[in-house]
Amino acid sequence: MTQHSNSASATPVHATPAEIQQAAAQLRAGALVALPTETVYGLAGDATNDQAVARIFAAKGRPHFNPLIAHVPDGQAAAKLTVFPPVAQRLAQAFWPGGLTLVLPRAADCPVSALASAGLDTLAVRVPNHPVALALLREVGLPLAAPSANRSGQISPTLAEHVRTSLGSAVACVLEGGACAVGLESTVLDLTGAEPVILRPGALAREALAQVLGQMPRVFSETLGEADRPASPGLMGRHYAPALPLRLNATEPAPGEVWLTFGAVRQSALPEGVQRLALSETGDVVEAAANLFALLHAADRPTFRGIAVMPIPAEGLGLAINDRLRRAAWGR
Ligand code: TXA
Ligand code: MG
Repeated sequence: MTQHSNSASATPVHATPAEIQQAAAQLRAGALVALPTETVYGLAGDATNDQAVARIFAAKGRPHFNPLIAHVPDGQAAAKLTVFPPVAQRLAQAFWPGGLTLVLPRAADCPVSALASAGLDTLAVRVPNHPVALALLREVGLPLAAPSANRSGQISPTLAEHVRTSLGSAVACVLEGGACAVGLESTVLDLTGAEPVILRPGALAREALAQVLGQMPRVFSETLGEADRPASPGLMGRHYAPALPLRLNATEPAPGEVWLTFGAVRQSALPEGVQRLALSETGDVVEAAANLFALLHAADRPTFRGIAVMPIPAEGLGLAINDRLRRAAWGR
C-alpha cells in the first residue's frame, strides 16, 4: 500500500473493502480480528461462537471474565438480541452510531454466547461510529464481541500500531482505521433496573444522556472490600451465581451431585445417579471456558443436591475459570 504523504499528520489509509471481506471470513471461521472504532480499537470475535469468545479472554490474558459488549451495525440488530424498551429506542435514535453501550435483558432466543454475558441474563450492545467497523459488521452479519484490544492491565489502544505491539500474534488481522476520534471507551448505561444507571462513564457525557432521559442518570459506585467477599473491581454482584451449593476441586462426586468434569474421566469413577457434564473431555482450558456458564446454568437445577467441579489448572484461561468459580462458591 502506498502512502502518498510523508507528513507526520497523514491519515493512515483505511482498510480496503477486500481486507474487510477477508476479515469477515476469518471471523466466521472463529478467528479474532482487531477493528477500529471511534472510541478505542476492539479485539473482535463472533459473539455467537463460544470458542471465539473464550479466545478473546485468552488473548487479553484477563484473570477474570468481564461481560463483553456485542457490537452490531444498527439499532434493529440490537433489538433482535435484547428486550429493547422505548427508552432504548429513543437513546439509539439520539446516539447511535456512537459511544453509548446499553445493557438490556437478553432476548429469549438470543444467540450470543453465555460467556460473552459472563453468565448474566443481560447483554451489552453498541453500534460503533466508524466506517470500517460498520462496514465489517454489515459484511459479517454476526454480532461481534469486542473488548478493548489490549492485554489485561495495559492501556487501551487508539492506534492500529498499539494493537500490533500488544496483541500482534493473537489476531488474524488488524484492520487499519486511523487514530480513534474519541480515544475513550463508550459510556455503559444499564437499562435493566427501575432507573437507568451509568455503569461506566465514558465517551458520551452524562448531560447528553439526561437530555434524552429527562433525568440525570445515577452513576454506579462500587462498594469495594466488603468483609465477606473477595474484592472484585468492576464485577461485584454482576455475575451469575448458581442457586445450588458449589463444591470446588471435587476429584469425585458425592451422591446427588452433578459433576462438572475436566479431562478424561473413567466411567467407573461415576457413582450411580450422578450426572456428569464435561467442561472439556480433552482438558483444554479454552474449551472449558467456552462451556463454563452454559454448563453452570444447565447444572443449576433443584433435581440435584449440589454442583461439584473438578480441579482446573490455573494456567491460561484456567486462572479466570478458577476466579469465576471461587466467586460463585463464596459464602456457600
Ligand atoms: O468503547 C468501548 O466500549 C470499547 C470498544 C471496542 O467498543 N469496548 C470496551 O469493551 O471497552 P470492554 O470489554 O473493555 O468493556 C465493557 C464494559 C465493562 O465495563 C463491562 O463490565 C461492561 O461493559 N458490561 C458488558 N456487558 C455487561 C453486562 N451484561 N452487564 C453489565 N456490564 C456489562
Ligand atoms: Mg478495556
